[in-house]
Amino acid sequence: MKTLKLIDEHISVEDWEWAAYSTVMTMQGVASVSGTERFRQRCASLHPDHFRSLHNLWVSSIGLGTYLGDADDQTDELYALAIQEALRRGCNVLDTAINYRCQRSERVIGRTVAALVAGGALTREEVVLCTKGGYLPFDGAVPADPGRYVVDTIIAPGLARYDEIVAGCHCLAPAYLDHALRTSLSNLRAQTIDVYYLHNPEQQLDEVSRDVFMARLAAAFELLEQRVRDGVIRLYGTATWNGFRCNPHARAYLSLETLVACAEHVGGSGHHFRAIQLPYNLAMPDAYSFQNQTVDGDTMSIFQAAEHLGLSVVVSGSLLQSQLTRLPSSLEASIPGLATSAQRALQFVRSTPGVTTALVGMKQPAHVEENLALARHPSLGAEQIRHLFDRAAR
Ligand SMILES: NC(=O)c1ccc[n+]([C@@H]2O[C@H](COP(=O)([O-])OP(=O)(O)OC[C@H]3O[C@@H](n4cnc5c(N)ncnc54)[C@H](OP(=O)(O)O)[C@@H]3O)[C@@H](O)[C@H]2O)c1
Repeated sequence: MKTLKLIDEHISVEDWEWAAYSTVMTMQGVASVSGTERFRQRCASLHPDHFRSLHNLWVSSIGLGTYLGDADDQTDELYALAIQEALRRGCNVLDTAINYRCQRSERVIGRTVAALVAGGALTREEVVLCTKGGYLPFDGAVPADPGRYVVDTIIAPGLARYDEIVAGCHCLAPAYLDHALRTSLSNLRAQTIDVYYLHNPEQQLDEVSRDVFMARLAAAFELLEQRVRDGVIRLYGTATWNGFRCNPHARAYLSLETLVACAEHVGGSGHHFRAIQLPYNLAMPDAYSFQNQTVDGDTMSIFQAAEHLGLSVVVSGSLLQSQLTRLPSSLEASIPGLATSAQRALQFVRSTPGVTTALVGMKQPAHVEENLALARHPSLGAEQIRHLFDRAAR
């Protein structure tokens, strides 16, 4: 028997059988304004800064990521515990991708959240489920012959042609994406995905011209707008690695203004391209400091461009895959009042103007506890962030 007690409110829930964990059915519903507001109200002892608006939803400033870790049962079990702990401590953003850990990360999120919802510990409307499509996923484990696997599961059923797959692993063709979306819904045991990202779309630019890329992106956006109308996704975005951070002359460069124009072209002014994801941390600060975007003729950073264009920003790699959990003492002193380097690194990310949610990969409940302790602290002010950059530039 297990119950989930949120930090502030010991909700009296009927005990639910953990044994039923693997048989819970699809969750109806979608994250909602009132549901996320309820989650926020339950976490009243956390600092008000901790909840921010992501296209009208209340989302936590720290989200749980599920990229890292082996594709095995033991890691699934760790993630299941970490997800429960994160929800209990005021984190309502869960981020994954179909290819992470051979679909196991989506599946463990689906199992865990569905079991909590079925047990009455949480409602589906309180949690923001985010996933991504673009990379061809394996199913539970890496197959003996990955090339054969792609032919059998993607090419042979007609989901994509060879020339639509880049680097042997990445595809934005609508038929393939739609298949991936359906698979993600099933993995997440969800009727609706709250934020659906195209995963590293700039990967396509490794092999195709910009014109072909834009045509592929438009076709993908068209599919996603249709799926929003169908109630299958709430909003969509692009989760990138280099695209929004590199030099405008680089091959992988993505102009946010151009992407938004593409969404407007297929979805009108009420389009649902409303979130971007990109890495940002103490060692990769360019999303704040590099003026590589142009909006209405003005040059600005990607964080500023997103604000101008009405998109929310979710940050990935907040701890640089744990490399920022030991900081130089001079930097530690610049972010005072916190107990650990990981907290300081995360505080920098979630405090930066323009950042809605800082994602942290967490499969150890102790890391969840350490990181979510930050939610009781106010964010640093914009001046303090600017001061940190000024210091670094000296
Ligand atoms: N292009 C993309 O779309 C993209 C790319 C990268 C990442 N992402 C998303 O962003 C999320 C975050 O990025 P990431 O997971 O790559 O890296 P990260 O968040 O920078 O680092 C995660 C690592 O830090 C460790 N960690 C967490 N808290 C810690 C603490 N307090 N003390 C010491 N170590 C700690 C974790 O350990 P444990 O796991 O053992 O707890 C894990 O090994 C991903 O999970 C994914 O959801 C998206």
